Amino acid sequence: MELIRFDADHSGVTVTDAMLERAARANELLHTGKGAGNDFLGWVSLPSSIGKKELSDIESVAAKLRGKADTVICIGIGGSYLGAKAVLEAMTDSFESLKRHHDNPTILFAGQNISEDYTHELLAATAERSIAVIVISKSGTTTEPAIAFRLLKAELERRYGKEEAAERIVAITDSSRGALKTLADNEGYPTFVIPDNVGGRYSVLTPVGLLPLAVAGIDIRALVEGARDMERMCGADRPIAENPAARYAVVRNEIYNSGKKIEILGSYEPKLLYIAEWWKQLYGESEGKEGKGIFPASVTLTADLHSMGQYIQEGERTLFETIVSVAESKHTVRVEADEDNLDGLNFLAGKRISEINRMAELGVRIAHVDGGVPNMRIEIARIDERTIGQLLYFFEKACGISGYLLGVNPFNQPGVEAYKKNMFALLDKPGYEEESKKIKARL
Ligand code: PA5
Repeated sequence: MELIRFDADHSGVTVTDAMLERAARANELLHTGKGAGNDFLGWVSLPSSIGKKELSDIESVAAKLRGKADTVICIGIGGSYLGAKAVLEAMTDSFESLKRHHDNPTILFAGQNISEDYTHELLAATAERSIAVIVISKSGTTTEPAIAFRLLKAELERRYGKEEAAERIVAITDSSRGALKTLADNEGYPTFVIPDNVGGRYSVLTPVGLLPLAVAGIDIRALVEGARDMERMCGADRPIAENPAARYAVVRNEIYNSGKKIEILGSYEPKLLYIAEWWKQLYGESEGKEGKGIFPASVTLTADLHSMGQYIQEGERTLFETIVSVAESKHTVRVEADEDNLDGLNFLAGKRISEINRMAELGVRIAHVDGGVPNMRIEIARIDERTIGQLLYFFEKACGISGYLLGVNPFNQPGVEAYKKNMFALLDKPGYEEESKKIKARL
């Protein structure tokens, strides 16, 4: 079932057989494992390889956490945070927090920053709540989530005692390495493993994304089913011209090669804001290396037409745009007629808000294309689990193909080490004595 349609009609790129041939070779490399970063290709067949048992295990641990806590705090950063956050935001009522009755626990996030105020406010806000924690780190050594976990573990132990705290903590980490693994083993926390061959930003369909989402009451089976649909559609055995991820990868690389360096992912649905954040991490970390790569940016529309809209229309012509367009809203709201028509809006009377939104989208597309901003469009049928599952895998597959077309290893991130080294040196971490002296001399 195809719930996503990719359209490059306004991209200015005519996709040729030669381009598709290159994309087919890149796709092939993802399946044969003969390309760069081939020890991190587990995500390619992840949707079809998730077994019933694995899903049931996730659901039963989720049910246990739901039974114990009204608030579940997910600790993680980067790929250990953004996938769950993105799907959760997309699937949740925009005003859930205002509802009197909640069917599902509140999901909060920690460890994605080192803000003292955020940390304090999180602890204060949850002081009267019944809490549980899911701590996620593939390496098990990332500083930001480790700090948050130290604080929350102590808080849980103070409140519930060590034994009950251990019942309220679930760790998701590497099968054998890292401080979190050691801690989880010592304390006897239930643990899920992030497969060795799945990197952080490609891990949303492992327990990293699936456990928090199952706790939140999201249908993870439908999400995985959607990803499976897309895995099939983008398989190496399918004609490349019909592979939507390959076409997206081809077009964005052609536009990049023509001198446009910034891709803006936009949507007219505010619920997709964190899908864009997840997408930025996926593409930025996968492609931005060796002095190359499209810079991924994002806007939420029509809000940002009143801020970034000016730049997009008339600023430096190095941009192109990809719009995630939602075909069908969940609800119906129409503009009412007004006898006095003092606001002059009677020309919209009887129209659905979604129709007006669609006309805004069309009008903007034409304006931006006229202004020299090539446009691609990804139409998704609606915002539900199956469709979002398709979208996630679509972006992952396109990212793998795109990275190979660009000529980089899309599965490493050597650049993120530089800041860590400096931070540890500045904080006098044992083992960083030399770096410490050097960096302090520069201050
Ligand atoms: O995509 C990646 O590999 C990174 O963004 C990681 O997910 C992020 O750095 C967090 O790493 P970890 O899960 O090891 O704590």
